Amino acid sequence: MTAAPASPADTSGLRTVRVDLSGRAYDIAIGPGLLASLGTRIAALRPGARVAIVTDRNVADTHLATVEQALDGAGIAHSAIVVAPGEKTKSYAGLEQVTEGLIAARVERRDLVLALGGGVVGDLTGFAAAVLRRGVDFVQAPTTLLAQVDSSVGGKTGINSPQGKNLVGAFHQPVLVVADTAALDTLPARELRAGYAEVAKYGLLGDAALFSWLESKGREVIAGGEARGEAVAASCAAKAAIVARDEKETGDRALLNLGHTFGHALEAGAGFSHRLLHGEAVSIGMCLAFAFSARLGLCTGQDAVRAQRHLESVGLPTRIADVPGDLPDTDGLMTLIAQDKKVSRGALTFILTRGIGEAFIAKDVDGAQVRAFLQDMRTA
Ligand code: GLY
Repeated sequence: MTAAPASPADTSGLRTVRVDLSGRAYDIAIGPGLLASLGTRIAALRPGARVAIVTDRNVADTHLATVEQALDGAGIAHSAIVVAPGEKTKSYAGLEQVTEGLIAARVERRDLVLALGGGVVGDLTGFAAAVLRRGVDFVQAPTTLLAQVDSSVGGKTGINSPQGKNLVGAFHQPVLVVADTAALDTLPARELRAGYAEVAKYGLLGDAALFSWLESKGREVIAGGEARGEAVAASCAAKAAIVARDEKETGDRALLNLGHTFGHALEAGAGFSHRLLHGEAVSIGMCLAFAFSARLGLCTGQDAVRAQRHLESVGLPTRIADVPGDLPDTDGLMTLIAQDKKVSRGALTFILTRGIGEAFIAKDVDGAQVRAFLQDMRTA
């Protein structure tokens, strides 16, 4: 079974998805080799603008020269700020480094900031652009699968507080996203697989045809080529549609959190370490959300098994027991769940599902039922 392409590719494999926000609409260009087109795209979008690139050391080693050449080729003046790789950079100190660097580079309102990298660089740079001179436009050039299908699209930007992840931030939409699908070839296989969990999420939450297509093409998406571009475009189109109808997450945008409540608790329980990558936690979290929905009689057990089999088939972890090392006990996990989501007199908000592609927001989930379920799932 094939999913309808979100947007057909041209002869060079280029696809374009539009994020339709009135007055602030922007394109997501998706295809192999697109970092080399950044100069011409930016020159067409913002003639005369200078570009301040923000990237991390690892991405700089692999892609900065290509981007600088592309900007040189279009006659665009540019500068670069290179930050340390890793989640620790998404901090007040990282924000200071980037904003002070942008001020020192004399970036003005008519200039552009370019985030070149994964989710950390995109979130940090977007937030720095949002607060610099009360708002400078920025372009996202995501270089991980997770950033291409999720964090670079939709305008959530921010840093972590010592008290929790993403607690300081702003909605600041990019003016352009350029997703070079060939850049993913340099990623470790584990990171690519983890990003794939967010691709599968779009099928599982709202598009049964996309999920069926992924069941036959998932391995190809990870391996690269035509299927990868199609999957990135389908994911971006799914996210763009949700963001267009609920930019600030007052309603439907919360559906994008499928698997994230259980997943965040496991991620936090593993110390946000290399033991469990974000996408791996989301994979287990989505399986738990389906299994819990099945236990509540909301979806069939077959749907839960189907979701789990697919994620397993691409090499993702799907059970709590798949997390290496120790985790907090069930009460400890419940405390982490309660910290992540609002609790109202023992009731929790979760994204549950009536089947493949039929997720919904459940606001009155009984904490005691979640606890009993988690206790059983620890040994499943
Ligand atoms: N990553 C979830 C969202 O953008 O809303």
